[in-house]
Amino acid sequence: MMDPNALTIALSKGRILKDTLPLLSSAGIELLEDPDETRKLILDTNREDVKIVVVRATDVPTYVQHGAASIGVAGKDVLMEHGAAGLYEPLDLHIAECRLMLAGRPGQQPDPQQRLRIATKFVNITQNYFAQQGRQVDIIKLYGSMELAPLVGLADYIVDLVDTGNTLKANGLEPLELITPISSRLIVNQAAMKMRHRTIQNLVEGLREAVTPAT
Ligand code: ADP
Ligand code: PRP
Ligand code: MG
Repeated sequence: MMDPNALTIALSKGRILKDTLPLLSSAGIELLEDPDETRKLILDTNREDVKIVVVRATDVPTYVQHGAASIGVAGKDVLMEHGAAGLYEPLDLHIAECRLMLAGRPGQQPDPQQRLRIATKFVNITQNYFAQQGRQVDIIKLYGSMELAPLVGLADYIVDLVDTGNTLKANGLEPLELITPISSRLIVNQAAMKMRHRTIQNLVEGLREAVTPAT
């Protein structure tokens, strides 16, 4: 078991860890070892009472909801897909910014009369988006490489994250409809926010200043 007094922050390897560390650093929290050089999943910081746990991006809300981590950083896509029960979302960190989009072949226009076959890992978001518009869709759940699906006839369209558009372009696809802009959010366990209000609020404010520097 981890020290119940430790403030545990759940981050995921890759762009979220990379972009969150400078913000934490501005808020006075520094990692003591290089996350790329260690296989350890619990990382010490310069603050005795603050630990960082490294988990899969899609698992961050689960750790924070259950209180296994008090705080986490998760993409809005992950929060929307997973649901945010038991979580506060006090801060948009404006990192890992991208767009969740419907994409398909150039020139291909979604036919509102036709039942669309859509490959995605964002099953719930996709279901809600099309249901709101009263459009019928068949969703094919994938775990990655969505861009392949229209190329091999698995689906007509995909719903995926787009940043530069390079991945779509490299696979002969184009963005068709913006579903929602995405960025990563600070999330806080609601019980932890009550029990450790001062400590957590200080950290939230430190991060807020790092995100929006005083002008
Ligand atoms: P995963 O291994 O789950 O794909 P990522 O580090 O790629 O983890 O994604 C973490 C979060 O970063 C996503 O939930 C999303 O919010 C955001 N993201 C994903 N792809 C991009 C991208 N190409 N550009 C900017 N942000 C992205
Ligand atoms: C993400 C996303 C897209 C790509 C979009 O993949 O799933 O495939 O980025 O970015 P672009 O518009 O700039 O090309 P990621 O880089 O996270 O790779 P992954 O398959 O390992 O998640
Ligand atoms: Mg990714």
